[in-house]
Amino acid sequence: MIAQDMIAAGAALQDRTPDGAPQVFDLRIDHAALSDHPSRQIVRHVQQELLMRTYQNRFVLLPQVDAPGSVVQMLHDRYDPKATHALDGYRAALEEALIEPVVNDLRPGIAGQGVEDYIAGMLDGIRKCPPSAFLTWLEGVPQGEPYYRNFLIQSSADLLAEASASAMGVIGEFGAPQSALFRILIDEFGYGTHDKKHSVLFRDTLRGFGLNTEYNGYWPIFDTEALHLHNVIHYLFQSPRNLFRQIGFLLYAETSYQVSTGQHYRYLKRHHPQVDGTYFGEHAHIDIHHSDMVINEVVKPLVARFGAEVGTEVILGAELTRLAFAAADRHALAVCQAFEAARLDGAATFAAPLHDASGQALVTPDTAERHDGKVQVGGMGLLHKAADFAAFPAGSTGRLHVDV
Ligand SMILES: [Fe+2]
Ligand SMILES: [Fe+2]
Repeated sequence: MIAQDMIAAGAALQDRTPDGAPQVFDLRIDHAALSDHPSRQIVRHVQQELLMRTYQNRFVLLPQVDAPGSVVQMLHDRYDPKATHALDGYRAALEEALIEPVVNDLRPGIAGQGVEDYIAGMLDGIRKCPPSAFLTWLEGVPQGEPYYRNFLIQSSADLLAEASASAMGVIGEFGAPQSALFRILIDEFGYGTHDKKHSVLFRDTLRGFGLNTEYNGYWPIFDTEALHLHNVIHYLFQSPRNLFRQIGFLLYAETSYQVSTGQHYRYLKRHHPQVDGTYFGEHAHIDIHHSDMVINEVVKPLVARFGAEVGTEVILGAELTRLAFAAADRHALAVCQAFEAARLDGAATFAAPLHDASGQALVTPDTAERHDGKVQVGGMGLLHKAADFAAFPAGSTGRLHVDV
């Protein structure tokens, strides 16, 4: 997509976001940053934002707190058929630019692999893998809270509506594996008990760090890798064409999550015992079953019925997921390390993010030199001089800080 099209798309989304609109209905993207010699990092970030907006067209959303105005009108405007259709029209080109190159790069490496061997190797690898590099690093810093806060914020892109993307993969009619997937989904939604729904448990953890729990509330401070991970998940689940890759996503996600969530649960117990870590404790337990269900009730019967080409698609989806999670994890650690280095130099200060950081200019490392003033970096704090942001890893984003 050329910048001119994205600017037009962004202007339309801004027009559809009236002043005072609830955060769940905020449709804006950073198209204004594209007008003046946009850098590569700015273009990639705004593309990811626009792709996220196309996927959000499919979610039922209501504000948590009653907003002034007619909620019926808000829904009619948010999901206006012509505007929704126009926004969806950008999706294929964005997926082609942002996600399909990754899929194509994966193909040669997985050619000829059998899915049973792949699963055996993956289970072994995940269970033997060393503890999270991020949590290990966090154990060694004097103040971990702002970094953990940032981890939660970046994860919230998906987790504040956890399993809603995968819900789109269980509608239709496709035999016994569909029912197994539906049983997993029931658990994700707390088997109908609101307080047990995973997205609600995640909110309980966010509250423990004083964070905003409104879906879409933190979009201005998501970094590019967090958006990429969110968009990979939706790329898979929003099209039935990707059915077997969706199953690959679940295979990888359910299997790796049972291990990583256990580490987070123990970290919170040790360092933030007052915070509700049920979200992580629950996953460390239930994802053992989910992983087993995906392998034995979904992957194996489908491969037995339709043959090895299904297995290849499952592996492709699992590998795409593994790469997106690994990139997000690596980036999360690198950005925290860059901030900690700046802080130790006296060039940065911890600060909680604003609950609404929209309306402040987007800064990327490759545009840092163009700005003056302080920059809010994710959920961590303020970098005193924008130019110092140039030392941060590609994919980091900041907001020019306005004192309020
Ligand atoms: Fe979950
Ligand atoms: Fe799960």
